Order: sequence, then C-alpha cells, then structure tokens
Amino acid sequence: MVLLMGLWFTVVIFLLGIPRDHCVQIIGGKESVPHSRPFMAKIKGSMLCGGSLIKRNWVLTAAHCNTTKNAEVILGIHSEKDTTKQVFKVKKPIPHPCYDRATKENDIMLLQLNKRAKLNKNVAIIKFPRLYDDLKAGTQCLVAGWGITKSGSEKASDVLREVNVTVIARSTCNDQKHYNSRPLVTVNMVCAGDKKGGKDSCTGDSGGPLMCNGKQRGIVSFGQGCGKPQYPGVYTLLTDKYSLWIKSVIQGNL
Ligand code: ARG
Repeated sequence: MVLLMGLWFTVVIFLLGIPRDHCVQIIGGKESVPHSRPFMAKIKGSMLCGGSLIKRNWVLTAAHCNTTKNAEVILGIHSEKDTTKQVFKVKKPIPHPCYDRATKENDIMLLQLNKRAKLNKNVAIIKFPRLYDDLKAGTQCLVAGWGITKSGSEKASDVLREVNVTVIARSTCNDQKHYNSRPLVTVNMVCAGDKKGGKDSCTGDSGGPLMCNGKQRGIVSFGQGCGKPQYPGVYTLLTDKYSLWIKSVIQGNL
C-alpha cells in the first residue's frame, strides 16, 4: 500500500514537472498556419516589432517601437523567405502625441507606408469591432508575432507564431500579487495571459494585434519578463478615443 502510494506520488510529481507545452513558441504558442493572419505586418527598425494593416497604406503598431523612416515594413509573409512578400518604407511615423514612456500610457502609433499594399490571399486589412467596449475577464484572445520564443533568448522567430491568451481583470492585474499598480494598468490597457503563466507575447512581438473574436482589440505593449504568472502581458486597449485618433490622423494625411 505504502509502495503504491509512493508510486502514485512519483507519477504525479513527474507529470507536474513536465513543461505544459513541449514546443514553446511566441511564448507557449505554436507556429501559425502560413498566411492565416494576412493582416500581420513585420516591422524591422531599430527594434523588431509587429503591426496590423488597417488600410492599404497604414499600419497600426506600438509607440514604444520607436519606428523611424529608415524602418522596413513587410506584409504577406510567414517567413521572410516567402516570395509573397511586399516590402514598404515608412513615409511617416505618427506616435500618439500623449505616449508616455514612464507610465506606458497611449502606447499606440500609426505608420503611413510609402505605397499602397496589394490586397490578396496573403495581405488583408484587419477587422475592428463595432463597439470599443471593455474586454471582460475570461475573454479568449490571440496574439501573434515574430518575437522571441523563450524568455532571455536572443533569437527572433523566422516564422509567424501565435498563442491564445485569456483576458485578466484589471483589478487582478493591479493587485499586490501582480503589477501592484507599478505601472498602473489603466482603462486604456488590458491584461492578458494565463493564470499559470507560460502563454505570452515577448520581445519582438510588440506592436502586434491582440485579436478577440476575430477583431483587433489591443496592441502588444509591455510586460515584466515574459510568461510569468504574476506579470501577464499588458496591451494597449483600442478604445473609442484611439479609434477617433486613428480616423483623424488618416483623414489629415490623405
Ligand atoms: N515590450 C516588448 C517588445 O518590445 C514585449 C512586450 C510584451 N511583453 C510581454 N511580456 N507580454 O517587444
């Protein structure tokens, strides 16, 4: 009997010890089906970032990506080796005027491309929600990117990867067990990850879209490390205010 219990114990410990996901990608995700996320943009500037195509000549990304005119924006790829790729220059980077590096508020930026993208099977415009309401805790979302696949790694992914993340209540995200309001997760931000950790965006995924129910609801903004249960990913929440800002910027730059 004692022997049997000991055996069980060993089995349980062994199972607990195994990483939940054997192939850890983005962080805890998987390789996307090639070209299944045709709105994804890869931004190669001073840092690697993701973005989403919102109009044929406009890409939405994060302000902290610090994209300049020297950056290259690539559409239509799974891997950079793809012959389907469309390469652009940035005609005008427009970070949100109120982006604050310290508080991370308004981490959103528009990039006007030097030409219009050709829309096809591999390049498409992302969908936005009809209503920019808050995201309820527990909502299932998806984040994709070419960022690193392991915390502390130096190598970005050649292929697009994605992971499912769950929206975490703002009150939880700000409590002492999580960010402890350092920095404060505001109403313009949303936390998403996994209660147990291990599922997250990471370095190089910044600026990419957070997709919930097939619509873009957020932008990869920040975290503390990657995949840690106490520090879920924090995303810029696309609110009415940002939707209006986007519309006005595009209107003013025709
Ligand atoms: N800020 C980082 C970047 O520039 C990654 C942000 C996401 N971090 C996270 N743990 N979800 O790529």
